Amino acid sequence: MVHYKELGLVNSREIFKKAVKGGYAIPAFNFNNLEQMQAIIMACVETKSPVILQVSKGARKYANQTLLQYLAKGAVEFSKELGYPIPIVLHLDHGDTFETCKSCIETGFSSVMIDGSHLSFEDNIKETKRVVDFAHEFDVTVEGELGVLAGIEDEISHEHSNYTQPQEVEEFVKRTGVDSLAISIGTSHGAFKFKVKPGEVAPPLRFDILEEVERRIPGFPIVLHGASSVPQEIVDEINKYGGKMENTCGVSEEQLRRAASSAVCKINIDSDGRLAVTAAVRKVLYEKPGEFDPRNYLGPARDALKVLYKHKIEKVLGSLNRA
Ligand code: G3H
Ligand code: 13P
Ligand code: ZN
Repeated sequence: MVHYKELGLVNSREIFKKAVKGGYAIPAFNFNNLEQMQAIIMACVETKSPVILQVSKGARKYANQTLLQYLAKGAVEFSKELGYPIPIVLHLDHGDTFETCKSCIETGFSSVMIDGSHLSFEDNIKETKRVVDFAHEFDVTVEGELGVLAGIEDEISHEHSNYTQPQEVEEFVKRTGVDSLAISIGTSHGAFKFKVKPGEVAPPLRFDILEEVERRIPGFPIVLHGASSVPQEIVDEINKYGGKMENTCGVSEEQLRRAASSAVCKINIDSDGRLAVTAAVRKVLYEKPGEFDPRNYLGPARDALKVLYKHKIEKVLGSLNRA
């Protein structure tokens, strides 16, 4: 057993409390490799923002559990070395079972998500409570989910979203003891969030649901998944340098700013980072076909990621200077 405190990490309790009170959201950036982690830490140190380093089941498989533990410890030391230690949470994204959550808790994660959103209400409560009871023994915080996002969640593809039903949230929170709740208000995972024709705008998020949730559980930390904006200029760059991405669509920054100023205190961003990396790598390889040193394309990818993350923190989430 390696406890997260030994790695210098924090759980999400205090930073969420401050974020809800302060009307901003903490960035939860997914990472799978060294360059992504470096970019996240550099961006967050430079903006003095707390951060949630988020690891999916796929990322765990890709990066290796042991290496992840050391990368997270390294992230803490790296932030100190950069001159401004920031609060860092290591979070399991879309934990699928009690066993996955337990294994993460035992190897240094300070926060886990148990995603029972595809289960019945009762089974979701049962599974979430089981994780909460175990996690809290180690002071690890837990995120649950009610409602299903359109797109891909946990390798299950959903054609349509199933919005969170506000009348369920009080009972869910009370009976499970979760520390935060992911809700479905119209966001979705990936780079193709809404089926819109060129020139059409995406449907607005259901702020009425968010407001009703807030009314029923005032001050409770709310999480927004599927919150990439899929910037058109990055998609254009990908296509300019040989890519083929059509009909992409994300959530507007304006709507995310509005959400961040509410009880939404964690905003998950993965796809935008993937796009930024792809655009940067494509550009280098297109312009310099003879390039074969990975540092010369992964380095620019890391730089592009850092720019993207700083933009999110400063202009969208509002977590600047909150560390
Ligand atoms: O919500 C899903 C995240 O974007 C992680 O995706 O499972 O492909 O690592 P992944
Ligand atoms: P995006 O695909 O919109 O970046 O969402 C990521 C996410 O919700 C990770 O859990
Ligand atoms: Zn998600």
